[in-house]
Amino acid sequence: MININSKLPTSKESIFATMSRMAKEHNAINLSQGFPGYDIDPELIRLVNQYMQKGFNQYAPMIGLPELRTAVADMHEKAVAFRYHPDTEVTITAGGTQALYTAITALVCEGDEVIVFEPAYDSYVPAILTQGGKPIFVSMEFPKYQINWDEVSKRVTGKTKMMILNNPHNPTGAVLNETDLKALTKLLKGTNIVVLSDEVYQHITFDGKPHLSLASVPELRERTLIVGSFGKSLHATGWKIGYVLAPEYLSKHFRSFHQWVVFAVNTPIQYAIAEYIQNEQRYLGVSSFLQKKRDYFVSLMEPTKFKAIPSHGTYFQLMDYTAISNLGDVEFSQWLTKEHRVATIPVSVFYHEKTDHKVVRFCFAKDDAELEKAAELLKLL
Ligand SMILES: Cc1ncc(COP(=O)(O)O)c(C=O)c1O
Repeated sequence: MININSKLPTSKESIFATMSRMAKEHNAINLSQGFPGYDIDPELIRLVNQYMQKGFNQYAPMIGLPELRTAVADMHEKAVAFRYHPDTEVTITAGGTQALYTAITALVCEGDEVIVFEPAYDSYVPAILTQGGKPIFVSMEFPKYQINWDEVSKRVTGKTKMMILNNPHNPTGAVLNETDLKALTKLLKGTNIVVLSDEVYQHITFDGKPHLSLASVPELRERTLIVGSFGKSLHATGWKIGYVLAPEYLSKHFRSFHQWVVFAVNTPIQYAIAEYIQNEQRYLGVSSFLQKKRDYFVSLMEPTKFKAIPSHGTYFQLMDYTAISNLGDVEFSQWLTKEHRVATIPVSVFYHEKTDHKVVRFCFAKDDAELEKAAELLKLL
């Protein structure tokens, strides 16, 4: 065996893979990993088939098909009253994960500091570390998971290169409001900090709360890369198609790495999505569809001893389990999967110090029957 000096010695199997595997092993209902448990629109499948049969099966342009870049620019223009230029400011990616990794790779250098809010989606930190960057962690305030901007400003130094925001936020379901955007704008004024805004759940907000993209504020837009994912907006997480919106100078940096990471993204699916999203109801309707699921899941869980922490977006619902057990959340999730056959995600894994508020994350983007079955099992606790 050759002795390899690992570039990422801390890398382990992701908790999502672990919990999904455990769910399978124990024949448990898998409300852990965030993927829809119902079929996608057959029309979208028909369109992919159609483009494959028409022979659109070879490489797409490196930056994405013009049809899809234009459709993405149109979609965003409707949401934020600003149009990213499809040729110079929109890039199609192989999902949100690749977009995030590529953006961090393109912009973070050895010794740069990157502000990361915890609980944090698990792909950010490995990408920062691989570039020799240093994550600077700021905790969102439990239990509302709000950002204390005074705390953030204390962590900004001359070495801060990037700040990563996730809105709507996985795992908490928190969304940023006008006050957050104002505080962020003020904090960044006069700095050279780039923002990486993970907005993959942009089309999933609840109770009439708008999604406030960072692109809606001109002073933020000029320093921000926005990451989107059709996996979330079209319920097709397995297709791995996303995009990055950024001003031309940032897009240039992004594309200079994108071309060496994936070069180009699946051609027939790009054509199909470009045509499919011409009807805006197909993505704007996702919020109300999932709000119904959230409300149904929360009502099913009412007779249990779990206590819901309000979710304002994404397809996740956090639940406090302190009335059931004083096990740590990792042990609790394993016990729940093995003994009660419902798989969840312990929220402590989203913290570098494994901060444990005794809260677990459920994904409610599942068939009603699956949610009902899970709630029946959880009522027995
Ligand atoms: C916050 C967040 N960012 C990015 C991603 C990755 O998106 P994709 O599946 O398109 O790679 C996910 C997926 O779960 C996510 O929850």
